[in-house]
Amino acid sequence: MNILKFESPQNAIEALAVHVIASAKDAIQQKGSFNLVLTGGSSPKVLYHLLSTTYKYAIDWTKVFFFIGDERYVPADHADYNGKMARETLLSPLNISEEQIFFVNTTLQQDQAAYDYYERIDAHFKGNITFDYTLLGMGADAHTASIFPGTDLCQEFRPTIAAVFVEKLDSWRISLSAALINKSQNISFLAFGKEKVEAFKSVQENPGSIEFPASLIEGNVSWYVDSAILGE
Ligand code: 6PG
Repeated sequence: MNILKFESPQNAIEALAVHVIASAKDAIQQKGSFNLVLTGGSSPKVLYHLLSTTYKYAIDWTKVFFFIGDERYVPADHADYNGKMARETLLSPLNISEEQIFFVNTTLQQDQAAYDYYERIDAHFKGNITFDYTLLGMGADAHTASIFPGTDLCQEFRPTIAAVFVEKLDSWRISLSAALINKSQNISFLAFGKEKVEAFKSVQENPGSIEFPASLIEGNVSWYVDSAILGE
């Protein structure tokens, strides 16, 4: 695991954008495509804006496929739907075509939406799901994607996608499991702020702990953090 510390969230985001673009260039050169899993939450908005403006001409965006690590079970035009934010900040400005976008169909019943999402991704990868790059955030309770402490998804060790009811939010989410995320070639967390100090510490100190779900993420993992999250 690689912890990359920056003075400010803005600096962390700029460095992450450089890494995403470099990884995309490599993947496109090697195999002609780049499979990028986006994250929801608020931290990535600036990243997406940067990618769609400063980096608009840096890579061939027609070779990039987009996925979402987790989705809120609300209609696609609802303000909470992660894909809506991704469309507004990244996909629409880049004129990405619908064939390149894999988002959750929340018109289906929860379990069916998870199954349908997995099936579409599996078909895209011809049965061998391997994302090139996964972006993740982390909450103050150490959840990542929608793998929240105390939910069944923490104990799901198969690489899959599931519907999960999050009691404290009183709502359903659809999320990749940690085992599926861990199949990604690159994984980068974007996490900022002093309210996440304890979670960050617990995750670093307890690898593989279901109490701190972000610690279930392993492989080629980098953390793009600001000094506040380190308690500095
Ligand atoms: C979501 C997420 C979630 C998020 C964290 C951090 O849909 O809410 O994907 O895992 O990344 O809650 O969110 P912030 O960046 O807004 O703190």
